[in-house]
Amino acid sequence: MSPLEVRAAVRALAGSKVREVANAGFGQSDVLKFWFGESDEPTPGYIREAGMEALRAGQTFYSHNLGLDELRNAIANYLVALHGRPFDAQQICVTSAGVSALMIAMQSLLEPGDRVVAVSPVWPNLTEIPLILGAHLVRVPLHVAEGQWRLDVGRLLEAITPKTRLLLLNSPGNPTGWILPKTDREAILAHCRRLGTWILTDDVYERLTLDGAGSAAPSLLSAASPEDRIVGANSFSKAWLMTGWRIGWLVVPPSIREDIGKLIEFNTSCAPEFVQRAALAALQRGESQVETLRLELRAKRDFVLTRLRAMRGVEAPMPEGGMYAFFRIAGHTDSVNLAKRLIAEAKLGLAPGAAFGPEGESWLRWCFAAKRDALADGLGRLESWNRSVTERDAHWS
Ligand SMILES: Cc1ncc(COP(=O)(O)O)c(C=O)c1O
Repeated sequence: MSPLEVRAAVRALAGSKVREVANAGFGQSDVLKFWFGESDEPTPGYIREAGMEALRAGQTFYSHNLGLDELRNAIANYLVALHGRPFDAQQICVTSAGVSALMIAMQSLLEPGDRVVAVSPVWPNLTEIPLILGAHLVRVPLHVAEGQWRLDVGRLLEAITPKTRLLLLNSPGNPTGWILPKTDREAILAHCRRLGTWILTDDVYERLTLDGAGSAAPSLLSAASPEDRIVGANSFSKAWLMTGWRIGWLVVPPSIREDIGKLIEFNTSCAPEFVQRAALAALQRGESQVETLRLELRAKRDFVLTRLRAMRGVEAPMPEGGMYAFFRIAGHTDSVNLAKRLIAEAKLGLAPGAAFGPEGESWLRWCFAAKRDALADGLGRLESWNRSVTERDAHWS
């Protein structure tokens, strides 16, 4: 019998290395788990209540492909307040979470064989979607300078050639916490405008800025005009603790909105109405909670980074945004192997850097959106493990 065949591009997809490690530790209740990108707190009560209220009212039917008018208006108004420039509900498309927003955006823009440039290390879904669609990916690595992740913007601009269809940017970045500086943003926008290159900006962590008082990271969207070739992807998952609800949105040029609506029809048809009602409550009532989350994450970032940086052989650049520490330990180059060892020997669950592209190899990601006690316990485990491994190596050398 001939083998059952899926498309070669699908067969060639790498399985998730975060899952590979997590699967090695699932079912072990004594492992402290910081491997996934979500808070350990459930969704705030006022959001859950709004979802339940909609369910009680029987809002269980299909809704408009692009989302409820009320929610699209609320998102547009929210973006105006956040970025201080006009946004219109005509530009907003509600999607079933950020990952679906990314898939739909790329389905609308990419032909097989297109060249896509991505700043990396980066969340694998951003870089695997172009491969699913048959596009060709070029990575431009971030580097560490003076204890922070940095982009060589000249190198990025060189990589964006007239043949580049799409630039993928994620700022604040997962896993690095890097934030695209305003000056680089202008240079990138000017270059892409000149070449007619599309930009997909993943702003899922834009509210989680950990330095300064700004309420949002400087998105490319705030510098662009509505008919620029720029699409923004966003999500309710991180800032409103709604990972399990699967709700997000796209900001698109008004002239492609109808096409996006067609793609939403063939992907998910619409986001569930009761989930959209919960998202609406998040926007209407969530500002102080988002600010509290941001300040808590800043304190947790400072706590985790101070302890990591004090450990022997640890290099831990300071994340400027998001909810992850991305660090490495001298002498360990295989991050999947190291993450599995940490599960077995220290009962500590972290994500391997290799999951975020070859540039992430040898690094580990720690999600610090967790309770302070759990973080302290995990740091203690890593300290003891690191000390015992260093002592053992010294003994045998
Ligand atoms: C960079 C980035 N973009 C998008 C998402 C998608 O989030 P969701 O699909 O939960 O909305 C994530 C989730 O971890 C992410 O890290």
